[in-house]
Amino acid sequence: MKEQLENIRKAALNALNELNIQQDLENLRVKVLGKKGELTAILKQMGTLSAEERPVIGQLANEVRTTIEKAIEEKQAELKAKETERKLQEEKIDVTLPGKRHILGYKHPLSIVLDEIKEIFIGMGFNIVDGPEIEYDYYNFEALNIPKNHPARDTQDTFYITENILLRTQTSPVQVRVMEKQKPPIRIISPGRVYRSDAIDATHSPLFHQIEGLVVDEGITFADLKGTLETFIKRLYGENSVIRFRPHHFPFTEPSAEVDVQCFSCKGEGCRLCKGEGWIEILGCGMVHPKVLSNCGIDPEKYSGFALGLGLERVAMRRYNIDDLRLFYENDVRFLSQF
Ligand code: DAH
Repeated sequence: MKEQLENIRKAALNALNELNIQQDLENLRVKVLGKKGELTAILKQMGTLSAEERPVIGQLANEVRTTIEKAIEEKQAELKAKETERKLQEEKIDVTLPGKRHILGYKHPLSIVLDEIKEIFIGMGFNIVDGPEIEYDYYNFEALNIPKNHPARDTQDTFYITENILLRTQTSPVQVRVMEKQKPPIRIISPGRVYRSDAIDATHSPLFHQIEGLVVDEGITFADLKGTLETFIKRLYGENSVIRFRPHHFPFTEPSAEVDVQCFSCKGEGCRLCKGEGWIEILGCGMVHPKVLSNCGIDPEKYSGFALGLGLERVAMRRYNIDDLRLFYENDVRFLSQF
């Protein structure tokens, strides 16, 4: 029995020496020290020993168990250290490697220009309001003094959802919606998409963007309109820009005007950029028609106001010297990444 114990110790220590995997270590522990292990099997036979032999063998068995237990513990620690070392090696970071670059998106040129325009008007005390793109005929035309048979409807044909509901052709209906809800003083701009039944080419698109402006209060005059627009254009195009007002007609303003800015390139001489005109048309505007005010429940005897409408694409095209409107909508990164 003594020999058997010594053999178990020797075999276990040898096996431990060669062992490299955590699971093998566990298997060995069960095989030698477990309930059905080799050592336990020996101890079960202790009863067959004589009274003198029993304490001797007992002591030896204990010794063998302690030796093996200790050796297993040491091996365990060794394996753990090795594992940690291996992990550290594996997870080592080379800080000199170049980083992975994420490609950021770009702000669309129309958004850049729109944000700038908003900023300018906010600076002059305007609020920004939204209006629906699907609109009633009443708001888009009727309330703006464009009755059913008015020739202005011809140039603003659009998609009709029903006889009375359409895709708005202009942002001007927002004027009506605001005046119906809010009593003066009113100072708003309203940017948004508008739709017209136009074939696509370099300067036309069935979908484009406008920015509407509206000011209503007591004692608002054409001088306020001129001052506001002059400030706006100078902030947008620079302090040296020159503008002119050209008489025009819009059904919802009286008097009405179109505003041109002097060509930046030729200073009014006439060149390729302004098509020889010397001036570039920027927006439409005028004093809100008394009929429109009373349509919205605002007393034209007490209040007056001005309105303006500009095309966002146009402003952006001027700003970046873009000669084809379609570029804005094609989502070509080569184009978009330039702004
Ligand atoms: N809604 C007009 C258009 O689409 C633009 C316009 C002109 C708006 C004069 C206005 C304005 O508010 O006063 O052609």
